[in-house]
Amino acid sequence: MERLQTIEFAGWDATFSSSVRQTALEALEAGRVLYFPGLSFPLEDHENRFLDPAILDQSKNASYNPAKDSIGGTVCTDGDAADLKVLIRRYSTTAQSFLNRLLAHYGPALKRERASLRPAKAEGRVQSWRKDDTRLHVDSFPSKPTGGRRILRLFCNVNPNGRPRTWRVGEPFEDVAKRFWPELPAPGYINRQILSLFRVTKGFRSAYDHYMLQLHDAMKADEEYQRTVSQETIHFPAGSAWACYADQVSHAAMAGQHQFEQTFSLPVEAMENAETSPLRTLERIAGRALAEHHRLSQAG
Ligand SMILES: [Fe+2]
Repeated sequence: MERLQTIEFAGWDATFSSSVRQTALEALEAGRVLYFPGLSFPLEDHENRFLDPAILDQSKNASYNPAKDSIGGTVCTDGDAADLKVLIRRYSTTAQSFLNRLLAHYGPALKRERASLRPAKAEGRVQSWRKDDTRLHVDSFPSKPTGGRRILRLFCNVNPNGRPRTWRVGEPFEDVAKRFWPELPAPGYINRQILSLFRVTKGFRSAYDHYMLQLHDAMKADEEYQRTVSQETIHFPAGSAWACYADQVSHAAMAGQHQFEQTFSLPVEAMENAETSPLRTLERIAGRALAEHHRLSQAG
């Protein structure tokens, strides 16, 4: 399978023909990375100061929460904080408007989540193998169970020195899942209740979320897998953007600096072909539903 699907030059305000929209939708849901050459995100001169990693607190990125219109992860205060918020919010709203047009099929089901600015280098900030994003992995959130909702991310390399952002992209999700499934421990119901009760997790962690976390860890922990699995190195040039379902695409961020990222979530039911989702794929392998309880508890 081709890992990359190029969408030829599209400005942020582009409108897309129905055939381009369909190509993008099918490629994304099949687990490919959409690549937008030349889609740069210009900063105003006075905003270049936010490309300095010194704006960060202990976090790996400065983030913008659209639900609260607030920023975090930064030591900036007062006027600096206000200007930084304007910048990340501009990326956030631009990214949303762009994907709403390209992925019109999803309509309002595509929900905008947090955006981030990552001014620090991708390489050389590792504390533990579990947090080491230079190892191939699929995204899953330890403290925010998704209950099967998709994680779609739109990235833009804004490096001012022309430095590319380098990823490795691994094998298709179904192959990853089948390879590791036999070694993933089953979830403990009581344990997940306790996590929820003590608010370690925001809501009950579904069996799906449990398996996705285990899968994330099993991939990263396996040194031989990291070396030997079928993979491709991709360099995203400065001034380009790319998008993928990060819960599905096996990826590793190897190098690069200065990146914007906008996260979206989507219920599996809103997909054109839900069978390709990690939830449905894991359910086929498990032979049972993996997010039922989560849906019921959210509805109730
Ligand atoms: Fe990731």
